[in-house]
Amino acid sequence: MSPQPRAAVGAPLSRVDGRLKVTGQALYAAEHDVNGVVHAVIVDSGIGRGRITSIDTRAALAHPGVLRVISHRDAPKLPYRDNSASNNPPGRRLRVFQDDRVLFHGQPVAVVVATTLQAAQHGAGLIEVRYDAEQPSTDLHEAEADEPTRYARGDAEAALRAAAVRMDLTYRTARNHHNPMEPHAVIARWSGHRLTVWDKTQWVVGTQTELAAVFGIPAQAVRVISPFVGGAFGSGLRCWPHVVVAALAARVLARPVKLVLSRRQMYFGTGFRPSYDYRLRLGSDRRGRLMAMAHEMDAETSSYEKFTETIMPAGQMLYSMPNVAQAYRTVPLDVNTPLWMRGPGFATASFVIESALDELAHKLGIDPIELRRRNEPDQDESTGLPFSTRRLRECYTVGAREFGWDRRDAEPRSKRDGDWLIGMGMAAGVYETQRNPAQARARLNADGTALIQAAASDMGPGTYTSQTQVAADALGLSMRTVTFRLGDSLFPPTPPHGGSMTMASVGSAVLDACNQVRQQAIKLAVEDRHSPLYGAAAQDIVVRDGRMHVKDKPARGETYQQLLARNNRTHLEALGSYSRPSGPERHSFYAYNATFAEVAVDAALGLVRVRRMLGVYDAGRIISPKLAHSQAIGGIVGGIGTALLEHTVTDHRDGRIVNANLADYLVPVNADVPDIKTIYLDGEDREADPLGVKGLGEVVLIGVAPAIANAVFNATGRRIRQLPITAEALL
Ligand code: MOS
Repeated sequence: MSPQPRAAVGAPLSRVDGRLKVTGQALYAAEHDVNGVVHAVIVDSGIGRGRITSIDTRAALAHPGVLRVISHRDAPKLPYRDNSASNNPPGRRLRVFQDDRVLFHGQPVAVVVATTLQAAQHGAGLIEVRYDAEQPSTDLHEAEADEPTRYARGDAEAALRAAAVRMDLTYRTARNHHNPMEPHAVIARWSGHRLTVWDKTQWVVGTQTELAAVFGIPAQAVRVISPFVGGAFGSGLRCWPHVVVAALAARVLARPVKLVLSRRQMYFGTGFRPSYDYRLRLGSDRRGRLMAMAHEMDAETSSYEKFTETIMPAGQMLYSMPNVAQAYRTVPLDVNTPLWMRGPGFATASFVIESALDELAHKLGIDPIELRRRNEPDQDESTGLPFSTRRLRECYTVGAREFGWDRRDAEPRSKRDGDWLIGMGMAAGVYETQRNPAQARARLNADGTALIQAAASDMGPGTYTSQTQVAADALGLSMRTVTFRLGDSLFPPTPPHGGSMTMASVGSAVLDACNQVRQQAIKLAVEDRHSPLYGAAAQDIVVRDGRMHVKDKPARGETYQQLLARNNRTHLEALGSYSRPSGPERHSFYAYNATFAEVAVDAALGLVRVRRMLGVYDAGRIISPKLAHSQAIGGIVGGIGTALLEHTVTDHRDGRIVNANLADYLVPVNADVPDIKTIYLDGEDREADPLGVKGLGEVVLIGVAPAIANAVFNATGRRIRQLPITAEALL
């Protein structure tokens, strides 16, 4: 098969769905027009742990417009079958309105359904719930941990004792919430035993199987629709309790029900990046060769589910060293269950490891980049596998040059600009390249247009656009003749839209489907006596702008339309698929970055301003450069939030989140965002997947927080081992 000319892939195109979004025609979960819809508002628990003793619904039910109040006293019992095909962590998931137990502050205890949103909101305020309250345990630093998950190679303790240089450092990272612009929202409608939901989700297939399991109905009886997602950062990777509440209410009332979480409810109605206590001990020789690292990681989870994330791999494979010991413990608390948030695990681990390396470099008087080069591994030392591609050295070289690293003074507190102390820092970042089974359907119509379908999601990275680019080139069509549709569980199944796996997984399935359709067309042409391509070798034919021709003889050919019309075919169609080669992996797959920051710190006030940032990425092939750039900017902005601002604060007296709103939970605004430059190394990863991509949505955030922390040290001489780095920490 002749390789197709590359026209769309690699071109800096704007979003194909951009116009729909800016004109308000893109419909988000709560915006779908469903006939006869009524409105639900959740009443959430005012205690952090205990039992509900009574619920007085009289005033609410007397309020005009209120149709019904549902709580554990009258809710139907739901099967809540196990669902192994889900992102549910091990444990016993929260069962809404199934008993009187309160497991965390903000847990749904009742739902008010009314003809208008206003009536439902007012009604919710009129519900009186009484409790038998117990003292909740919500402090990670005070509570008891589960048994650890361990990793070891060599003998880290012995190596630490023998090391010429030793460090013993303790880090704390704050809980972060995703805070997408679009709140979580759902509309649920039953037709007999069939359930349709319009949901904000990063995985329509996951929501489908979960609702089927909760209600004890076949997955085919559930349809999940989610064409647009207004940001998520991981918050849409599970089917949350409020989705069940909406479906349950719709069943009880036999009417479609719309439920939108308030901004406040988002803080306990969806997950969060767990906070960590993280102790790192490291030993090196005097030239900075790492001998050992010992990691002790404690992270919060809920009392009813054990959430874990990939906090361990970075410590095993980012740098070369003979001895590693890791102990990862979850600490069950009276909180709702955490979930992955952008760059999950790796972002937290990288903050610790990259801060410590900067500290070691300073201690030894070695340039931080040089220190990292000295510890660059030749292979993945956790598995013994070769890296598929690892171009971290190039990231350092390009980054140092483009950022002007040679202008950095290694001596802290040596650059000033008026009241501001100026410093530069850098960090490495790594994130796993995940690929999972996906399918896609491609259909080429007689009019020369194509329709591609995959369940998929697009929470903002530009899936519509990048998949259209892949399809257009594989079919030999122009972008405007190809339509890509996603966000419907009726479409071929795909893995979660998270973990940076969409392009590798769904994109490879789209490529396969479109390659199949193109081959069908070519086969039809070369076997058709009336085609100018009759008798030509199929492998010599390429397609450009919808016209098939012999590669070296552009004059000999015809269009898809001519071919299909003459053969009385309405369309050609194929189901494409992707799964990684079976058997054990033969390579170690990761994307990398080097991230650079320049900060100014007010010497008197401790205020940190980021002045410049640069990210250099080794992420494999870049399908859609403009959107990749946009992703990197978003990742860096998110990283600035993690570094300096974001912190979910819990009042441990009653388990209440005290800053559950966007005024008190700080995220970067335009004034916090500096000059950002991003560079993707040109290239591809031939081992990773047919498209040669390594994923980029997560890796762009990783390394940002430590680069900033290291720049703060360079500016001030103060080493802050906590996130966020607040003004008060610097005073
Ligand atoms: Mo990303 S945390 O996998 O949405």
